[in-house]
Amino acid sequence: MENEIRVGRTPGRRQVEGEPLLVVDDLRTQFAVAAGAVRAVDGVSFELYRGRTLGVVGESGSGKTVLSRSIMGLNTSANATTTGSVMYAGDQMIGKSAKAKKVLWGAEMAMVFQDPMTSLNPVVTIGRQLTEHIRYHLDMGRREANEVAVALLQSVHIPEAEKRLDNYPHQMSGGMRQRVCIAIALACGPRMLFADEPTTALDVTVQHQILNLLAEQQRDRAMAMILVTHDLGVVAGRTDEIMVMYAGKAVEKAPTPELFARLRHPYTQGLLWSIPKITQAKHTRLIAIPGRPPNLISPPPGCKFAPRCAYAQDICRQEEPTLRSIDSPDHVFACHFPVGTPEGQAALDANIASEYPPALAAIGKLRATEELSV
Ligand SMILES: Nc1ncnc2c1ncn2[C@@H]1O[C@H](COP(=O)(O)OP(=O)(O)OP(=O)(O)O)[C@@H](O)[C@H]1O
Ligand code: SF4
Ligand SMILES: [Mg+2]
Repeated sequence: MENEIRVGRTPGRRQVEGEPLLVVDDLRTQFAVAAGAVRAVDGVSFELYRGRTLGVVGESGSGKTVLSRSIMGLNTSANATTTGSVMYAGDQMIGKSAKAKKVLWGAEMAMVFQDPMTSLNPVVTIGRQLTEHIRYHLDMGRREANEVAVALLQSVHIPEAEKRLDNYPHQMSGGMRQRVCIAIALACGPRMLFADEPTTALDVTVQHQILNLLAEQQRDRAMAMILVTHDLGVVAGRTDEIMVMYAGKAVEKAPTPELFARLRHPYTQGLLWSIPKITQAKHTRLIAIPGRPPNLISPPPGCKFAPRCAYAQDICRQEEPTLRSIDSPDHVFACHFPVGTPEGQAALDANIASEYPPALAAIGKLRATEELSV
């Protein structure tokens, strides 16, 4: 059932109130390497309210992890430079000292990583890993921390939680380990949770359970959550809003139902075509977007998606499109020839007529998708 696309908000999700918990403005992170500066995050802005979930979607290398780490202040390598503004609960995160950030990590902002094995210590029991975290942040005694640890393991549906405290990570399945990581992330009641591809290392049934668990915890605790994935299908039924990233930039952002009803960016369309369907036979080849993302040190001028885009025209290779809206102010996209508009259709038709390879690939995709979605 993992790849069944359910669009929209989780029933019962509360409406936004008051000020946003997180306001990110023109965030940029560069890495200095011998060949130049890698612009991994290149001017990203968004807001997130308490109790809401933002899906961040893009191919490998689009800047999703660097974005999350930049917001949390975890990009500490010597070659990294982060600029812009990250206001968390009215407090500026950029430029905060490591000591000040450490107080926030776990207690205010927490992260669930892709691979539970790399975030758990293999030679320490999970009980100790949980209780040490709780005691550090909540200033509790051993006994009290133990009780909280058991309650947390129960809340993430780990059976026989008390017995599990003595287990080492290798004694648990991948799904159980990820549940432990979620329990550790939730231990101190953070108001903001980052889940960076939290299920890619797991099999499909377990993926579904873990994503549902995250959604349940997010809802019960009214946390703000950023769910990072390369799969639009994962965020379809589990987010309020989706931001699509390409080459370090947000290229489209919209409320989830709006994005699926009226996507405007050709790259978002390509990501949608790449989602496996449940009606699809198991052996069916997935339709990926042809070509590769650009070099982030010296990207091409104009729109960075142009070399792969079925709609691209001369202006795209010269002028970089900026974010704009035509449907509603909360649906923005950066494209000169948006999908589903007369100018977009004319651009695609002209490219098909001139046998422009990405356009021909797109019609092949269109046919394949229509066949597969029967
Ligand atoms: N420390 C670093 N030094 C140089 N380049 C880096 C560094 N960290 C990340 N990058 C580059 O930044 C870009 C964005 O990386 P990031 O890890 O955010 O991608 P991603 O969207 O999370 O991809 P994936 O889906 O594979 O996790 C990539 O080109 C990556 O090579
Ligand atoms: S139509 Fe042009 S601006 Fe829009 S995504 Fe394609 S190349 Fe970029
Ligand atoms: Mg990543």
